[in-house]
Order: sequence, then structure tokens, then C-alpha cells
Amino acid sequence: MPERKQIDFIMTDHINNAFSLPSAGKMPITNSEVINMKADKNIENAKNFTADNNAPVDSAQNEPKTTEAQMSVDQYLEQLHADFDPVYNLLTDYQCAVMEVETKFNILNSRLSMQGEHNPIESIKSRVKDYDSIIRKLERLHLPITVEAVEENLMDVAGVRVICSFIDDIYKIEECFVSQEDVTLIMRKDYIQNPKPSGYRSLHLIVKTPIYTENGKKDMYVEVQMRTIAMDFWASLEHKLRYKKNLNPDTAEQLAKELEACAQESAKLDEKMLRIRNRIAEDGAAVRIKDISALT
Ligand code: GTP
Ligand code: MG
Repeated sequence: MPERKQIDFIMTDHINNAFSLPSAGKMPITNSEVINMKADKNIENAKNFTADNNAPVDSAQNEPKTTEAQMSVDQYLEQLHADFDPVYNLLTDYQCAVMEVETKFNILNSRLSMQGEHNPIESIKSRVKDYDSIIRKLERLHLPITVEAVEENLMDVAGVRVICSFIDDIYKIEECFVSQEDVTLIMRKDYIQNPKPSGYRSLHLIVKTPIYTENGKKDMYVEVQMRTIAMDFWASLEHKLRYKKNLNPDTAEQLAKELEACAQESAKLDEKMLRIRNRIAEDGAAVRIKDISALT
């Protein structure tokens, strides 16, 4: 069983190292791994308490000690909750926003696939930005490390990626999505019409949409990225290569050029697939018209 001093040390260590905060309690953002890691530490500390009388015992001598150490653990847990609860709340709110937006896209997919002949959405991938990335972004933007700074300034903590079958599905779904009463479009970047120098193509939307919590309505920022399967395929591979840090500069430059060429190829492929899809749709419509005229 750690002595009181050791527990105090763990507390200070926990607050200073885990959060790297200028002052404790301001921005205890974390992800589940960090929480689990800290919980493991608690379990490790708590292991030496007997289950039946809850009295602290010395693991070596198995003798009960004073309740002073127990009090310290209680204080430690209290501190832990005070630190982590705002973070749980914040990340849960973003998770709820992701769920709301995902549901909107799933509904649109069901409705539109009843009218057309295919599901316009192939898949939806979502994520809530992790603790490390949130802190790094705040630091990069010279913002205070606080929950409020996240809520007011970071618009991509909740992210929903919608993978569509064809380019025109992207714009059709976008139109239906942003025209919803409770969706406010904040920013739109069309990297399909204007690809990035890397070759990256996707439609980016930042929207504000409400979640309904036990405390009432709360507007949340959500970043939506819409792309075709080909765009997603390219972006996933390019993302992996981008983070290969040990490439020599010449190789990196050569690969960047090749990737840009691949992006152009994949854009052509998207256009070809769309033309094929349209031909199939036109032929299908012609056949249906013929069928109807045969009945009359
Ligand atoms: P961030 O601070 O990174 O959010 O940049 P930003 O706010 O200027 O947003 P931007 O419109 O550049 O898009 C950011 C997101 O789009 C990234 O997190 C990626 O998911 C994606 N993205 C943008 N550019 C590229 C690129 O060149 N390659 C890949 N693979 N993804 C990209
Ligand atoms: Mg971003």
C-alpha cells in the first residue's frame, strides 16, 4: 500500500503529466485509453484494500493501517472525477452529434434509394477527435487548453465521412442535408471542383446541428466529408504515405507527383463510372416506357 506521500505524488503526477495543464481542472480532456490507463493505476493502488472491511492493509504484512491513506484515495478519486467529468460530458456531446448526423444520412439513403435504383451512400465512417489531437490543435492555434476553447473554436472534433457511389450522389445528398431545418451550414469547401495541390478531392461541410440532452438543446459543430469510393481509396493510401516520416526528400517528392497523377486517374474513373451509370439509367427508363406502351 503506498504511503500517503506516494499517493499525493501519483495525484500530482496524474494531473500534471496526463493533462499537461497550466492549472488543474481547466481542460481535463482525454480519450478512453488515457482514462483506462489512469484507472489501471487506481486499481493498482486500490488492490491493497481488503474487500470486506474496506480498510487499507499493508500488502507485505497484511496488517490494517490508519484510514488516512483511504481518505487520500477518496480525495484522489474525487479529484479524478472533478477533472474527468467535464471531459466525459464534452466527448459524449460530440459523440451524440455524430449519431444525430449519421442518422440524418441513413434516413436520406433509405429515402433516396426508394426513388432511384441504387443506394446513393455506400458507407459512413465517423469519429470523435482524440485527446492528443485536440490538445495539439489548441496549442497550434495558440488557444487556451479549456473545454470552452474546444467548443468555441474547433469545428472538426465530431467528424462524419460519407462515402457515395457516384459524384452526383454527393451533391444530391448535400442539398437534402443542408436544407434540413436543424442543419446550419457554417463552411463549405469543394475540393472536388477545386482539388488540393496534393490531388485530394472531397466535399467538406462544417455544420451546426442540435443535440438534445438532459439539460436541453445544445448546438454542436460537425465536420462532414463527402467523397466517392475512388476518392476515399486515394485519400486513405495517401494519408498512410504522408505519415511515413523516414522517406528521403527525393523519394517523397517523386511519390507526391505519382500520387497526384493517381488522383487525376481516379477522377477520370469517377467520371467514366458516372457516364456508365447514366447510360444504364437511360436504357432502363427507355425499357420501362416501352413496357408501359405495350400495356396500353
Ligand atoms: P485541419 O486543421 O487539418 O482540420 O485543416 P483545415 O481546417 O484547413 O481543413 P481541410 O479542409 O484542409 O481538411 C482537413 C481534413 O481533410 C483532414 O483532416 C483530412 O481528413 C482531409 N484532408 C485534407 N487534405 C488532405 C490531403 O491532402 N490528403 C488526405 N489524405 N486528406 C486530406
Ligand atoms: Mg480538420
